[in-house]
Amino acid sequence: MVIFGIENMTQDRPEQTSGSHRVATSGDIEVSTYLEIAKEIGGEQPTVAKEAIPTTEREAIIVVDFGSQYSLLIARRIRECRVYCELVSYDTPWEKIAPLNPKGFILSGGPASVYEPEAPLAPAYIYESHLPVLGICYGMQVITHQLGGKVTPATKQEYGHAILHVSAVDSPLLADLPASTAVWMSHGDQLEEIPPEFTALAYTENSPFAVMGSADKIFGLQFHPEVAHTPEGKQILKNFAYRICGCQGNWTMGNFITDSLFTIEQEIGEGKVVNALSGGVDSSVVATLIHRAIGNQLTCIFVNNGLLRREEAERTLNVFRQNLGMNIVYVDASERFLHRLKGVTDPETKRKAIGEEFIKVFEEEASKIGKVDFLAQGTLYPDVIESASSGSKASAKIKTHHNVGGLPARMTLKLLEPLRYLFKDEVRQVGLELGLPEEMIWRQPFPGPGLAIRIIGEVTKEKLEILRSADWIVMNEIKKAKLYRQLWQSFAILTDVKSVGVMGDYRTYGYLVAVRAVTSEDAMTADWARLPYDLLARISNRIVNEVSGVNRVVYDITSKPPSTIEWE
Ligand code: XMP
Repeated sequence: MVIFGIENMTQDRPEQTSGSHRVATSGDIEVSTYLEIAKEIGGEQPTVAKEAIPTTEREAIIVVDFGSQYSLLIARRIRECRVYCELVSYDTPWEKIAPLNPKGFILSGGPASVYEPEAPLAPAYIYESHLPVLGICYGMQVITHQLGGKVTPATKQEYGHAILHVSAVDSPLLADLPASTAVWMSHGDQLEEIPPEFTALAYTENSPFAVMGSADKIFGLQFHPEVAHTPEGKQILKNFAYRICGCQGNWTMGNFITDSLFTIEQEIGEGKVVNALSGGVDSSVVATLIHRAIGNQLTCIFVNNGLLRREEAERTLNVFRQNLGMNIVYVDASERFLHRLKGVTDPETKRKAIGEEFIKVFEEEASKIGKVDFLAQGTLYPDVIESASSGSKASAKIKTHHNVGGLPARMTLKLLEPLRYLFKDEVRQVGLELGLPEEMIWRQPFPGPGLAIRIIGEVTKEKLEILRSADWIVMNEIKKAKLYRQLWQSFAILTDVKSVGVMGDYRTYGYLVAVRAVTSEDAMTADWARLPYDLLARISNRIVNEVSGVNRVVYDITSKPPSTIEWE
């Protein structure tokens, strides 16, 4: 059956950010959300531990960020070619870059115009290092401007598809490309003259210099090779990394694991590490990696807030305690959270209450462990780097452990963030290589406040049970239909609406359950999934038949925006 609206989904989901009224959270968000909320409790920031930068025959390509929305994507594409890549601001000093052993630079696109007085330009070391350089869009204009060519506002701006014709078939940058291929353009300025020593390597109808290059291994692309609309883009980036920069391609998750085990061991020594385990991808991978490195010096604290889905706590415990033999402190704090949520109906008050309670429980348990030196966190690369939005100074801003608050300050812990250089898809791969179950690795995101924000109004034990049963059916049917991984999220909501129904000879007055299934790339926008009618019918039938107290099911057909994914 064709399911409309989910064809374009990839399993490779970038990190998610929450909507305006929500707490900004990282990758798989569960625990970090609580820690984020804890910020409001106050306290100083902890000292950051020495970072575990991978060391295997170090080689890297550096993306110099001029503020393009695609800068991080370039880094991802390069990493997909098995070459380590970092994104740095254009004003980063050479001393910070040198330790990475750069093999080449990519100058990103950006919103500025090179001929404007304040336009960001490439630092001198880029050219003086004699390393290969690839300028993309604005990056190409920067090269042109700095090396003696001429950039002017285009008479015909080019946005969208164009056909690239390769004129220099023997250029290593364009090796293995067809004579013509589609590319994605997005530029208002154009190259009127390329710098001396450069030649045009390819052209489009509107851009005679769509690709340029020099014998010094400096190249420019007028289009964006990093986006999916440029089908040969990855080949071009691969050519740059391998044929021009001479990279070996040693950035594999296997190597990452080997390096991390070594660096974690070095860093921790005889110390003790504590980790808040949630069962989400990031916290699970962090725990497993650290456990592999230092065994029982790691203690995981798993707080059951009573807002988890059916069997969730048991399954998580089973994997980590039973199968992986980790040292886990399990706290069933369900009653405590329920008590705290009594009478609370406002969504944000719910979130805050849950966050604060989590911190208290976590702190209590952590203090029982004795002296602890490190707090492990599942911070990912996109959490660390945030490209400045267009128009502002183009810089890669470091959000220092943004999701840690009062907790570690009071406990004076150092942070251990072994995933801070990884993208989400890399984290998943690490998890798989460490032997974590697929089910855990491909888990759909689940909000930190759990079922509490899927129960409209006050959270009670009875309502939690109803929602767990309905949610179980949704999940079960979605998985049976093999749609689980294609959907960003799929779940049930227990509304506070009751309606009249009829069952047999009786009138009923029961709850209305809503089903939500969305497709999304990053949770910033989402569309409702066009689930097959038969599937919706099965879900609805099963819920009203199997979940007592529910007599009506509706399917949410609103996109985000204007809606949000969650109902609260
Ligand atoms: P919305 O509902 O804002 O959700 O479209 C976007 C993504 O964020 C998740 N979400 C949360 N995650 N704490 C979390 O850890 C929260 O308070 C929270 N609110 C929403 C939501 O499940 C979706 O993936």
